[in-house]
Amino acid sequence: MKAVLLVGGEGTRLRPLTCNTVKAMVPILNRPFLAHLLAYLASHGVDDIVVTLCYLPDRIGGQFGDGSACGVKLTYVMEETPLGTAGAVKNAEPRLDGSFFVFNGDILTDIDLRAMMDFHRRSGAVATIALTPVEDPSAYGVVETAPDGRVKRFIEKPPRHEAPTNMINAGIYVLDASVLDRVPKGQPCMFERQVFPGLLAAGAPVYAFPTTDYWIDIGTPDKYRQVQYDLLEGKCASHLQSARPGGGAAARLDPSAAVDGPVLFGRDCTIGAGARIKGPAVLGDGCTVLDGSTVDRAIIWTGARIGRGATVRDCVIGGKTTVGDGCVIEAGAVVGDSVVVTTGSRVAAGQKVWPDTTL
Ligand code: GTP
Repeated sequence: MKAVLLVGGEGTRLRPLTCNTVKAMVPILNRPFLAHLLAYLASHGVDDIVVTLCYLPDRIGGQFGDGSACGVKLTYVMEETPLGTAGAVKNAEPRLDGSFFVFNGDILTDIDLRAMMDFHRRSGAVATIALTPVEDPSAYGVVETAPDGRVKRFIEKPPRHEAPTNMINAGIYVLDASVLDRVPKGQPCMFERQVFPGLLAAGAPVYAFPTTDYWIDIGTPDKYRQVQYDLLEGKCASHLQSARPGGGAAARLDPSAAVDGPVLFGRDCTIGAGARIKGPAVLGDGCTVLDGSTVDRAIIWTGARIGRGATVRDCVIGGKTTVGDGCVIEAGAVVGDSVVVTTGSRVAAGQKVWPDTTL
């Protein structure tokens, strides 16, 4: 089966993690997010994938090439300026025919794609939209359906109490190539706002594929941490052998250091005397946690150094960042790459620290 992956966005909500890289390449359990997504797609028989690029395009092609190392065939289509979700797929039209998947490139899920494609073919839809339940739909596109699954209405970001359902557009579609006739060439256009409502207005058959399978979009720092907690706790299947607790390397642990819960270490990590690492947590290659520090549910990128007696909790620490002795990094903080947090400093809850700064 064929898919188009949308990975051209700037990932602004994930900054500062996306200042030096694209959302699709941020590390999830020490592997680029896209490696997880490709492994999932391959395991569901999606092996011919067109990747639509815009922001920092060389970051992806340079690493994944023709996709053979991931068991899929990858081709790339570039946008000079962002064309939006539908404009990006229109740009890839010469490579598309029949029915194909479109995937937002920031989603991790266990949705059964073969079942979704079968449903699309049986229902006679021109577009099938996967739906997933969320607790609070007010930040999403809500999709109202008839009892037979046909889509009745799209409601963008409704106030919570006005949403008729908590089923939202999961950012996974099966489309017939004919849908692209409705998308202007070379102009920004969105499926959610223009193309799908246009299909409904024209009376075209648009169906929903509701599912309660695992689904998360990694578009915010909290979700970026959450997906890794979920993978480490087995709430979502990992399709990458190396990205599992115990699938990483063994750290150099001082005999008095303690590791509790699922923790994934990259290569060459060193944990000092009396330090405590509490999972779910991830440490990238070459991380050092010095004596007496506490790392609790943190995601720490390659080459970071946590000083003596520091506390790093429920947060993300960028690559090559140094957290000085006695520092406290509070819950929800996001510290970018190559930051120096000087001795005794505190990074407040939810604070974002831009790369290459000294605090
Ligand atoms: P934010 O800036 O944080 O909203 O992130 P984003 O724009 O990267 O992602 P958003 O959730 O808005 O978009 C969903 C998916 O579509 C992401 O995987 C994006 O990479 C992708 N996307 C968004 N806009 C474009 C675009 O203009 N072109 C392409 N090729 N992909 C896009």
